[in-house]
Amino acid sequence: MSELPNLTVVDHPLIRHKLALLRSVDTPTKLFRELVEEIAMLMAYEVTRTLEEEVVEVVTPLETTTGYRIAGKKLVVVPVLRAGLGMVEGVLRLIPSARVGHVGLARDEESLQPVEYYFKVPSESESRRFLVVDPMLATGGSASAAIARLKERGVRGITYMCLVAAPEGVRALADANPDVPVFTGVLDRQLNDVGYILPGLGDAGDRLFGTK
Ligand code: PRP
Ligand code: URA
Repeated sequence: MSELPNLTVVDHPLIRHKLALLRSVDTPTKLFRELVEEIAMLMAYEVTRTLEEEVVEVVTPLETTTGYRIAGKKLVVVPVLRAGLGMVEGVLRLIPSARVGHVGLARDEESLQPVEYYFKVPSESESRRFLVVDPMLATGGSASAAIARLKERGVRGITYMCLVAAPEGVRALADANPDVPVFTGVLDRQLNDVGYILPGLGDAGDRLFGTK
């Protein structure tokens, strides 16, 4: 993994177990949806390891002690529509006060280039920390476009989280955005000639919403 320095694979046994179920062609929409949310929640635990904290005084029933609370910049979760929507609740289960922005992008099936159809993020973007979520990092076009739009708004401090990544996409994202750490549940082998991840799990949006 040394040639992919921005990448962290969150390879916990629970995540590996759930990813195997997620990949299976026999997994129905309801379970697929539950798994995407659960894996996102488990990954968010690792992704938030570097959140700033501050020391607080806590009065227990027995004495006064010190504890910690999350401090620093407020978090904004940004799903890349559509499939990223499936990961939002999982992240919010750990960080219920996070704001949510949306970037709507769809890959043109011929060119594989992302086409934007929606963009909305909370105001005062410069003073917030952003977590962009999308189950699939394939060519990296959608991730790079989403991050470029956020940077246009003056956003810094962006982290990207996906469930399945292709090496091609991780490289493309790192070349365009060396400042953005990438977290994935698994690093797959390669893309096929129509831009699908192998072995992958198929079309995440279609499997999540039952549209095929
Ligand atoms: C999928 C996926 C990513 C993108 C990844 O979305 O959710 O956003 O493809 O591919 P890339 O790395 O080559 O850009 P898609 O465009 O199929 O839209 P959908 O979520 O609406 O199904
Ligand atoms: N988008 C998906 O949903 N799946 C892939 O394998 C590649 C892009």
